[in-house]
Amino acid sequence: MSHDDFPTEQPAVVTCGLPYANGDLHVGHLRSYTAGDVLSRSLRKLGQQTAFVCGSDMHGTPIAVNADEEGVSPEAFATQYHEQYRETFPQFNVEFDNYGHTHDETNTELTQSIVETLEDEGYVYEKEIKVAWDPIEDQPLPDRYVEGTCPYCGEHARGDECDEGCGRHLEPGEIEDPVSTRTGNPAEYREQPHRFFEVSELSEYLSGFLDRLEGTSNARNQPREWIESGLEDWCITRDLDWGIDYPGEEDLVLYVWVDAPIEYISSTKQYSERVGADEYDWEQVWRETESGEAGGEVVHVIGRDIIQHHTIFWPAMLEVAGYSEPRAVCATGFVTINGKGLSTSRNRAIWAQEYLDEGFHPDLLRYYLTTMGGFQQDLDFSWDRFQERVNGELVGTVGNFLYRSLLFAYRNFGGTPEAELSAEVEERIEQAVDDFSAAVNEYEVRKAGDAAVKLAQFGNEYIQRNEPWKLDDDEAAPVIRDCVQLAKAVTVLIEPVAPGKAEAAWAQVGGEADVHDVTLDAAFEPPAATFDEPAELFEQVEDERVEELNGKLAERVAEAASDDDADDDGTESDESTDADEADVSDELEPLLEDRIGFDDFEALDIRVGRIESAEPVEDADKLAKLAVDIGVETRQVVAGIKQLHDLDALPGTKVVLLANMEKAELFGIESNGMVLAAGEQADLLTTHDDAEPGTKVR
Ligand code: 2FM
Ligand code: ZN
Repeated sequence: MSHDDFPTEQPAVVTCGLPYANGDLHVGHLRSYTAGDVLSRSLRKLGQQTAFVCGSDMHGTPIAVNADEEGVSPEAFATQYHEQYRETFPQFNVEFDNYGHTHDETNTELTQSIVETLEDEGYVYEKEIKVAWDPIEDQPLPDRYVEGTCPYCGEHARGDECDEGCGRHLEPGEIEDPVSTRTGNPAEYREQPHRFFEVSELSEYLSGFLDRLEGTSNARNQPREWIESGLEDWCITRDLDWGIDYPGEEDLVLYVWVDAPIEYISSTKQYSERVGADEYDWEQVWRETESGEAGGEVVHVIGRDIIQHHTIFWPAMLEVAGYSEPRAVCATGFVTINGKGLSTSRNRAIWAQEYLDEGFHPDLLRYYLTTMGGFQQDLDFSWDRFQERVNGELVGTVGNFLYRSLLFAYRNFGGTPEAELSAEVEERIEQAVDDFSAAVNEYEVRKAGDAAVKLAQFGNEYIQRNEPWKLDDDEAAPVIRDCVQLAKAVTVLIEPVAPGKAEAAWAQVGGEADVHDVTLDAAFEPPAATFDEPAELFEQVEDERVEELNGKLAERVAEAASDDDADDDGTESDESTDADEADVSDELEPLLEDRIGFDDFEALDIRVGRIESAEPVEDADKLAKLAVDIGVETRQVVAGIKQLHDLDALPGTKVVLLANMEKAELFGIESNGMVLAAGEQADLLTTHDDAEPGTKVR
């Protein structure tokens, strides 16, 4: 791999996190698949040789549990979802060059051979560990078969992940007060021999890897903290039938997170075998050369809940097994619906099939999901905002410019008039192309989409300013020539985000070749001398439609809530497979049983403060540095509110501050006190009358 700007000499592969073959796709999934697709198309636009691969994640206990419940084999269960995904992705113009799955021969063989290499290299050892066991059924309870309390944060945790609390990966035996999710029986821990991968030995390598890693900053910062606090070795086997057999062992399978990322390589290999190594060589991408030089440009697009797997476990495996390390990991934020956490069990989701059944063009959703906010920011979906963005940017700006300029050209000249391209327009196109290239090199798909929309906006201003309708044909010709060139450039630039619409627009400008294959140079090539009458590209989303869609969504959320009340058996439904689940907003934490005395309370020095300044902490996802006046002095406090508050608006805000909180250092910045806040959105506590900074809170 190089760290050169794209396009590089080496082939690239863009991958998307594999969806568990375990449930219907929704907008939360689509966010990262559309982002991956836009990124790979954008790289190709730069002339970068790129493959785009993915596959279904077939293993793991949730799939085994759900298959069990349905009375079918895990393989049949997972295959059915795998087929569904394979058909659904192209309907959103998410076109993988290869879409495989983790249970096929290629992946089984490659996984086992990589594990053998890890063993041969001396990085795997056996250790007896405590495995949760159902004593009544006399069965082991790996991962999602067990739930209990997270030992790190005390929240309810399921299996191998504290998905409702601190988000940490949990090793077997770590969950406290374990209970079987199959039977509800209290579980016990028994000693069993398992295999461990010595990740702790690779801390130094991983620190260097993170320094080299490109992509979103959250994918570097969180792992740095984990490494600093000391890496634990990783248990890579499970007592389960469903999975890839541990080489040479009958009773153990590999942990799902071993074989899942290896599918990135397997899928690339399958692609390469299909098209031939002359066209795309998977080994050139994934294998290190003999001199230790890594191969191609590996770019992973994932949800932010699986950063640890992609920046610790995965590069550690690649390093020991002699494969190329990733060049970039791009981790998207979560998706919320109308400001609330997406919840499949509460039916608060926009389902992929539902969207298609509504008859909306897939590119409208692609545009929304990939250009709404920065890659790593959380993204809220609402039908109102969908309407606003479609009607404003796609209909009003892009569609309007393409239609009015091409129609004028067609009616008056039958195509592109003969005239020179003006220097002004040529320069403006160059700027858009540069903006696009810079955005792709920063892995910012939103900015790449913006480059197209802004160019269309310029086009609208240009035509408005030059008023060709007031000119005779000779005078209008250069203006319209410019406009058709702009239309062509907009089409080229918008292809990654809206490939279907770009195809239609390309036909309208009489583009030759295939708009999906052309590179950015095509934006400057002269447009066709003749073309047909254009048609409008986009349609308005009407108010009544939005009302109807909002009604439908509200209705089914209410329905799910009442079903939930009706069959509430005190257990949570299993949302474990939702990478984008972020819903704890409706649940209140139970009150603490332990009472404290007044003296304990008095030990807390809580003061009224006033924020004097607030600025983001560079490289940290969530942190902001505040200066808070507490009367006697001004305190520097680091708080996790960066994405939740408009920092510019905070100075002057009164807050409540725990002044005798232990000092801490975050991202090298001292935090001297703690600003109190409530809930997921960090609602800042304040006072409402004349209590001055420094006043003690009692
Ligand atoms: O969290 C998930 O949805 C996993 N199925 C992602 C796997 S990505 C991988 F292959 F590394
Ligand atoms: Zn936790």
